[in-house]
Amino acid sequence: MDEETLKKCIKAGKIAAQVRREGAEKLAKPGTSFLEVMDHCEKRILQLGGQIAWAQMALNDVAAHFCPEEDDAQVSREGDLIKIDIGVHQEGYIADNAMTVQVKTKEHSELIKAAQNALRSAVKLVEPGRQLWELGEAQYSEAEALGFTTVKNLSGHTLEQYKVHAGVSIPAFNTKEKTQLKAGWQIAIEPFVTPGQGLIKEKGKATIFMVHKQGGARTPYARKILDEVKSQNGLPFTTRWLTRKFGKGPTALGLRELERTGILHSYPPLAEVSSGLVSQFEHSMIVSEKTKVYTRHEDDTW
Ligand code: CO
Repeated sequence: MDEETLKKCIKAGKIAAQVRREGAEKLAKPGTSFLEVMDHCEKRILQLGGQIAWAQMALNDVAAHFCPEEDDAQVSREGDLIKIDIGVHQEGYIADNAMTVQVKTKEHSELIKAAQNALRSAVKLVEPGRQLWELGEAQYSEAEALGFTTVKNLSGHTLEQYKVHAGVSIPAFNTKEKTQLKAGWQIAIEPFVTPGQGLIKEKGKATIFMVHKQGGARTPYARKILDEVKSQNGLPFTTRWLTRKFGKGPTALGLRELERTGILHSYPPLAEVSSGLVSQFEHSMIVSEKTKVYTRHEDDTW
């Protein structure tokens, strides 16, 4: 990786870590509006000089892929377990990071600790030549040590310019995958840990979308959406960005057309199949002999 690219990753990472911590701190207080926190995170990314890749969150047994709509009234409540996943980019070079907080309780401390341990153990192994199964095994055994398991059908991933999932998956259990990490790879490791079965499935209405392929829009509703999200360059966008500008009806019509024609893919919330609670921690890093984690905040202990 060249100096310029590295600088962009590091800058994006600093902002992503800061915004993640700010969002997490707010969510940990009971009565906090999800909508306000996600709006705050997006605003802060821009204020700090970053570009928004995404600001997402997920509640309790939902592992990932939730964004509040413009009129979402949900607030954090005592006993909740909340994930926040923030993506920031600099000209397409992405910092992807996530953390989990519990709201006014200590009952989820072990579940949180297990995901932190899983991430820490896997990160320690990151170096050129390391086989992917080893990273999976490290995460799984940390989860198991505290009586939990990892979510098997979610994984970390390589990152490339404007690509959130650039082709290689980093498993969260021993898949026996022998592919080796290569120097210069940009990767995100993100164990999801649960006392449940360790599997997720799509559940509920999607509020997150990505442009999957180029193509024409038939209606003005669809055309406006494509124009609006062009600047994301294939990175995710969320419904409320559109409904605030075009209204709910036109947005729904446009999204429906673009999904049907395969131009957009939707990403519904991912819930644990046995309704087990899910905790998650994630860092982005560049593989080298001295691997550089570029999303670590000074207050992170993982
Ligand atoms: Co990720």
